[in-house]
Amino acid sequence: MKFLVTGGAGFIGANYLHYVVNKYPDDYFVCLDALTYAGNYNNIKSLETKPNYKFVKGDIRDNDFVDKLFNTEQFDIVINFAAESHVDNSIKNPNLFADTNILGTMTLLNASKKYNVKRYHQVSTDEVYGDLPLDRPDLKFKEETPIHTSSPYSASKAGADLQVLAYARTFGLPVTISRCSNNYGPYQFPEKLIPVVISKALNDEPIPVYGKGENVRDWIHVHDHNVGVDLIVRNGRPGEIYNLGGHSEKSNLDVVKTILKHLGKPESLISFVTDRPGHDLRYAIDSTKVENELGWTRTYNFDEGIKETIDWYVNNEEWIADIKSGKYKDAYK
Ligand SMILES: NC(=O)c1ccc[n+]([C@@H]2O[C@H](COP(=O)([O-])OP(=O)(O)OC[C@H]3O[C@@H](n4cnc5c(N)ncnc54)[C@H](O)[C@@H]3O)[C@@H](O)[C@H]2O)c1
Repeated sequence: MKFLVTGGAGFIGANYLHYVVNKYPDDYFVCLDALTYAGNYNNIKSLETKPNYKFVKGDIRDNDFVDKLFNTEQFDIVINFAAESHVDNSIKNPNLFADTNILGTMTLLNASKKYNVKRYHQVSTDEVYGDLPLDRPDLKFKEETPIHTSSPYSASKAGADLQVLAYARTFGLPVTISRCSNNYGPYQFPEKLIPVVISKALNDEPIPVYGKGENVRDWIHVHDHNVGVDLIVRNGRPGEIYNLGGHSEKSNLDVVKTILKHLGKPESLISFVTDRPGHDLRYAIDSTKVENELGWTRTYNFDEGIKETIDWYVNNEEWIADIKSGKYKDAYK
């Protein structure tokens, strides 16, 4: 089968490609990525030699380009990881998020419909459900939880999800959606909490923590997320939404302290900063549906996964240095 994987130079898409290109030598994977500031060709450069893989630079918002690509390649499966993904940027520039995340998704949906793809999969987020109170640990997001977004980022992801479901209902497009909690692991752009903390701690720089650091996220290792996406794409029922969660709720402050402890750095590096406007308090996912229906399980627990992740960033200091210097932009010629 021929797969289109959009956003494959980003954090989760790159990890997905490393997993599936090696696991399925009889399938063929085309990575489409615009290489925005968050796209790092270094993440996928080592795949260049694989016979079942190729990279195409392009923008999911470019209708003509996307149409020609679908016409030439005749994809069986489309998996859309491409997005603007950083909540802070969505507060500064909401329109860009609507443009990429909603209109870009619609470009892919139109092409998937026109060229009769067998499965369109949308990689979505638990943030579409809004947030939960800190003092109700019994509450978790289920697939039926109403959409209740907080940020221009989550609103744009929800808008995309609604279009995906509309294309299923109106045009009969065979779609699936996965909604996952916060990911950690290798290749995450150092604007997100975990790589920011590691990178700053290694340089003994102050570590900014929003508010009191009490916001809770349900952390999942990126590999477990991608195993779930792969299962859903291959075995999930068309028209369905599947939640993927880490079963690992931690406050931001706990995450920061865990990283400092593993690196042998003092907690005095922590610097509390003005909270993000509209900051969601708590996310927690109920993944019973995908566990029961598709047999999905997690292989990582947070304590082991975070240590392995910290060690990856420590051992790949050049990867971060290239981003800081801007050299990573030269990785794709
Ligand atoms: N990071 C998380 O914790 C998390 C959790 C749940 C869901 N998600 C979702 O997973 C997906 C991937 O997230 P990520 O953290 O890897 O993001 P990322 O920002 O690291 O990567 C996004 C990738 O998309 C590419 N891209 C952006 N705009 C594009 C366009 N117009 N055309 C083509 N490519 C474009 C970028 O170049 C980049 O390579 C996103 O859809 C995100 O909403 C992320």
